[in-house]
Amino acid sequence: MRLADRVLTLKPSATLSINAKAQKLRQMGLRVINFAVGEPDFETPEHIKRAAIRAMEEGKTRYTPASGIAELKEAVCRWIERYYGLRYQPHDVLVSCGGKHAIFNILQCLLNQGDEVIIPAPYWVSYPAMVTLCSGVPVVVPCSIENDYKITPHALKDAMTEKTKAIIFNSPSNPTGVHYDIDDLNAIADVLAPRRDVFIISDDIYSRIIFHGAQWANLVMANRELMDRTIIIQSVSKTYAMTGWRIGFAVGPDEVINAASKIQSQSTSNPCSIAQWASLEALTGDQECVDKMVKIFEERAAYVCNRLDAIGDVSFVRPKGAFYVFPDVSAYYGRAYNSKTISNSTEMANFLLDHARIAVVPGIAFGDDRCIRLSFALSTEELKEGLDRFESALADLR
Ligand SMILES: Cc1ncc(COP(=O)(O)O)c(C=O)c1O
Repeated sequence: MRLADRVLTLKPSATLSINAKAQKLRQMGLRVINFAVGEPDFETPEHIKRAAIRAMEEGKTRYTPASGIAELKEAVCRWIERYYGLRYQPHDVLVSCGGKHAIFNILQCLLNQGDEVIIPAPYWVSYPAMVTLCSGVPVVVPCSIENDYKITPHALKDAMTEKTKAIIFNSPSNPTGVHYDIDDLNAIADVLAPRRDVFIISDDIYSRIIFHGAQWANLVMANRELMDRTIIIQSVSKTYAMTGWRIGFAVGPDEVINAASKIQSQSTSNPCSIAQWASLEALTGDQECVDKMVKIFEERAAYVCNRLDAIGDVSFVRPKGAFYVFPDVSAYYGRAYNSKTISNSTEMANFLLDHARIAVVPGIAFGDDRCIRLSFALSTEELKEGLDRFESALADLR
């Protein structure tokens, strides 16, 4: 059998495969604490579910326009205006099957063979694979823990060439939970402003999961000059605990959105009609559910950070948003358990799963082999038990 070249080097998503392995152990009756989850552990709020039921009862079960229903696009514009202070029109909005699909469609219509896309690392697992699938070249820029895993203007300038077509910017970040403050954004915007040929894909899907009421902003909010080449990615997945509903958005210049809509119309057609109506309720209904969830994530972040602080030889940046922390565990590399030496993040993740029955995602999947990613979308009891196991497993390494 001969498959297309593009799939030969494509690896399955690391988060999905570690989850599958944890699931298998659970099916064998073992109690696994799963720190690898990438979704809120909360139910979708009732009012959103009811909107979906209503949509079905009202027969809103047929094809919709390929790029999404007008009501939802309108609601996205109002939502963006409320949380970003930026004005867009419904024709600047594409509704896709999740933020992931939106990013993929945008890359499809921006990249030609060999175009470079700058990706600060640690990065969300799928960016490099998506760029490659769209014939582009991922240019990964490592960011250091000393700079809170944020790209510096200097490093960005160094990474840009005449082939640079886009940068993917993700704040708060999966996997670090770090977000850029306004001074960082201004400095980065200064580098990008003169390059009118470079698009910015601003993956803002965690923008509402921000701790301690901190101010969140993205590059366009810092510098409006960038608006005509920035595509905002949003999603109801994390903000409204709706990962399974598969609704996300791309918002940006209508020329790009039109092109991405064409791609969507010839590939997937519209995202699920019922999920679109539910998402309309999510964006326009009571927002208290978001505040409640953020408060819980904030408390858990504090708990997890305190526990990690107490473990020697682990360094990390305190997350300011999202629901992940990305500890550097490389001080344990070179140590062994049962004469098996741990020398990278994959071996560390396997050791933790086999020895302590805790699932974590190896940092290599995010472009940093020194780290592992822990999600705190777990109950307090699970967090406590999981961190107890984590601590004693590390102590078993000699
Ligand atoms: C940074 C980031 N972007 C995009 C996505 C895609 O989310 P969805 O397709 O569920 O909207 C994820 C999911 O984990 C993510 O972490």
